[in-house]
Amino acid sequence: LLLGVTLALTPINGAYDKERDALLKGTFPQDFIWSSATAAYQIEGAWNVSDKGPSVWDTLAHQGRVYNQDTGDVACDSYHKYPEDVALMKQMGLKYYRFSISWPRIFPTGEQQDGVNQDGVRYYNALINELIANDIQPMVTLFHWDLPQVLQDRYGGFLNNHTTNTTVIHDLFGDYARFCYQNFGDRVKYWITFNEPWITSWLGYGVGNFAPQHNEPAEGQYKAAHNIILSHAKAYHIYDDEFRAAQNGQVGITLNCDWGTPKTPADADAAIRYIQFSMGWFAHPIFKNGDYPEVMKTTMTRKAQEEGRTTSRLPEFTPEQKAYISGTGDFFGLNHYTTVEVIDTCCTPIENPSYDTDKDIGTGHAPDWPRAASSWLYVVPWGIRNLLGWIKEEYGDPDIYVTENGRSDHDQDPAIMMDMERICYYMMYTNEVMKASNLDSVKVKAYTAWSLLDNFEWLSGYSERFGLHYVNFNDPTRTRYPKASSVFFKQLVRNNGYPE
Ligand code: NOJ
Repeated sequence: LLLGVTLALTPINGAYDKERDALLKGTFPQDFIWSSATAAYQIEGAWNVSDKGPSVWDTLAHQGRVYNQDTGDVACDSYHKYPEDVALMKQMGLKYYRFSISWPRIFPTGEQQDGVNQDGVRYYNALINELIANDIQPMVTLFHWDLPQVLQDRYGGFLNNHTTNTTVIHDLFGDYARFCYQNFGDRVKYWITFNEPWITSWLGYGVGNFAPQHNEPAEGQYKAAHNIILSHAKAYHIYDDEFRAAQNGQVGITLNCDWGTPKTPADADAAIRYIQFSMGWFAHPIFKNGDYPEVMKTTMTRKAQEEGRTTSRLPEFTPEQKAYISGTGDFFGLNHYTTVEVIDTCCTPIENPSYDTDKDIGTGHAPDWPRAASSWLYVVPWGIRNLLGWIKEEYGDPDIYVTENGRSDHDQDPAIMMDMERICYYMMYTNEVMKASNLDSVKVKAYTAWSLLDNFEWLSGYSERFGLHYVNFNDPTRTRYPKASSVFFKQLVRNNGYPE
């Protein structure tokens, strides 16, 4: 009922509402998980030490495709400075840390049979041990976009034979996951198979501006997503069959989704399409029935007819695959940053057709939404509460871990250390998460701040800073400095919310 009330209160045009948006007093459940996150390519550096193989992001960055020609060659140098990172977490009172393992740092070519980089294994063991010694639980992402370049070259990466039974990429991802469970699973109890597969699929294999730069906007994203979903399921089943009994951990996936709010009542269906084509694309198979959302299938079938094609660009899972995929998430990982206003463009030609054409929508933003440094990041705290409510309703009330949320500043912002707007962002967004938990009974179990450190922000390089700690990327020592937001966050964790 409360959820219904919340959604009903949501103003259709995305404007703020003083009552709904007022801060709530109270605390999170006792066992609530507070964490912060990073990813291998964004912080580690040491891109070619010992036997590490190149990843598709090494390739892209070395081609000079990133803003200011930045690369992750050194980044925050966390490969060498990880004890300092752990000390920062300890300082903040964090009991969890989400980081990712670099596949080519473990298997230089991506394939175990070609050799294991023992230095890489040593590095992750040392990091995990340092965390445990400081009473911090590791939450590990297996794939945060840095695919071994050799796998892209040999097999087309996630494009590999997506509709045949001879796909190797699922097995290779499975082997990599198994190796990680074997070597780290005695201490790691939370595994995230893929981070934001929407991004890898769309930007990596559809638009092609992200690595591995495959430009095939009609179909590339659908093929890659198909393989990613099957690879995820493989890694899940390997854990289930071979490790769960002894290791007793959890395996999930992290999906990204903006909240989509209809611009007018007539745009309500379009807003649903927006969410189903982004989050539902992966969540519906994994958390529901092993298959894509109905609206995605019907839309893509209609497109095929319009295009005079005999088959849909959206591939089909076999009945066996559906059974294999369905129910392969012990928790629902959510990365959420922002909200968009959705406009239905169905059947009306749009002026600037974008990659959103398949779902027949346009997106915009309400004039009163404040902006962050990243072009796509508008600050709309109530969006996260609505999205959490949507996940609860749509996917059978799963345990939800917010695995990323945060706000960027421009590199040159003079008030970079006195980051009041980041404090405000964290305050408002965590408060909305608390409303979802305490008022709407959403089973949200974790909140993870992106990011512990300023780091390599993909195509924007070092020009956008998300960190709770400042890093000077011109200083060879890469010293870390706490920003005001890290002190705020420490207080928030200590209070476990906003007590009276
Ligand atoms: C999501 C991604 O997982 C992360 O790598 C990125 O830095 C943040 N969003 C901010 O854009």
